[in-house]
Amino acid sequence: MGRIHRQRHWLMVILFSLVILLSWQWSLVVKMPVSAQWDLTTRTAEDQPIEPIPLHLSLNLEKVVLGKQLFHDPKLSRTSTVSCASCHNLATGGVDRRSRSRGVNGQIGTVNALTVLNSGFQFKQFWDGRAASLEEQIDGPIHDETEMGSNWPEIIERLNQSPDYVRTFNQIYHEDISADHIKDAIATFERSLYTPNARFDQFLRGNTHALTNTEKKGYQRFKAYGCVACHQGMLLGGNMYQKFGIFGDYIKDRGNESKADWGRYNVTGKAKDRYVFKVPSLRNVISTAPYFHDGSAKTLDEAIKIMIRYQLGREANQNDVDLIIQFFQTLSGELNEVPS
Ligand code: HEC
Ligand code: HEC
Repeated sequence: MGRIHRQRHWLMVILFSLVILLSWQWSLVVKMPVSAQWDLTTRTAEDQPIEPIPLHLSLNLEKVVLGKQLFHDPKLSRTSTVSCASCHNLATGGVDRRSRSRGVNGQIGTVNALTVLNSGFQFKQFWDGRAASLEEQIDGPIHDETEMGSNWPEIIERLNQSPDYVRTFNQIYHEDISADHIKDAIATFERSLYTPNARFDQFLRGNTHALTNTEKKGYQRFKAYGCVACHQGMLLGGNMYQKFGIFGDYIKDRGNESKADWGRYNVTGKAKDRYVFKVPSLRNVISTAPYFHDGSAKTLDEAIKIMIRYQLGREANQNDVDLIIQFFQTLSGELNEVPS
């Protein structure tokens, strides 16, 4: 090979590597959580890492009403004793307020119940994100032996014994009762369980008086500590996965590790997904104690201190924790349930 030839060859190699390097860096920027690209000091409401929940959604009202009835119907469980509402009590933030839920025959589950409120806005369902949609999620509790322990043929047979159900399904779907229609109705009802117009959303929409000065300080602390790196978007969560225990091994310190602590690893089988969970929403968080997938934090004070230590590698300052709790008080919205 001549000298010029060889030089050209090297030039090509260098150019090629540059292209690869640049596109790799670009893909990192694209994959990086939005917050990491965010300037946390931004002040204007339009510029915040959190968006308000829409004030109105248009949903098929007949499906919402049917879904509500199914959501509260214990016939969906094998023993006819447990409904979705048993563990997702809408009067108590959409949760059961237990560390672990109780299903058929009083059996105790493996993780803390997540709320159904605003669940329709999430990118994935469950702590480990194993369901891609609300419709898909429903198969979980229906079949889970420690939850409802049932199956579709049995449920359809039971619902078919009710002339009311048969008529309503026919009216809406122009077909017989099926698993898909049941899921569609329940998921539509769940989408109606959004909680708009929280004081924080009024603030985001431009009403600077909607928050007290203390609450505004709490929001500033929430941003300054870096909580928004993970708890962001419309729900302050529900839009990404993160490892629980970045600056320390929370599960080890807690003790009694179980399969439920492995999070996404149980879905993907990849080592890097061990202890990785969906970042939970903080909407209405003052009503959804206890906290974490294992229900190990009984209070917000405890949960926030654990977050500051294990997710941010800092020591909590009590005054800041109190301010963040004040901010959390502003995240509860209005639930406008359809009449039964
Ligand atoms: C025995 C208690 C129990 C029953 C009954 C139950 N759930 Fe749940 N639900 C839970 C628990 C616990 C979780 C969290 C499970 C997990 O992430 O692995 C959950 C998670 C969910 C989620 C995901 C929320 C999120 O943020 O990812 C939705 C949606 C949901 N349930 C809806 C329902 C519906 C609809 C029914 C009825 C068909 C139902 N649940 C029945 C306990 C229950
Ligand atoms: C690196 C990402 C990350 C950061 C930063 C972070 N969190 Fe979290 N947060 C998570 C994850 C993941 C969970 C779920 C952990 C689990 O239960 O497995 C969680 C759970 C929570 C919960 C419990 C919610 C519930 O319903 O159980 C609260 C409250 C919370 N975080 C508040 C905060 C606060 C306040 C900050 C800042 C001081 C913060 N988080 C910073 C990722 C993060």
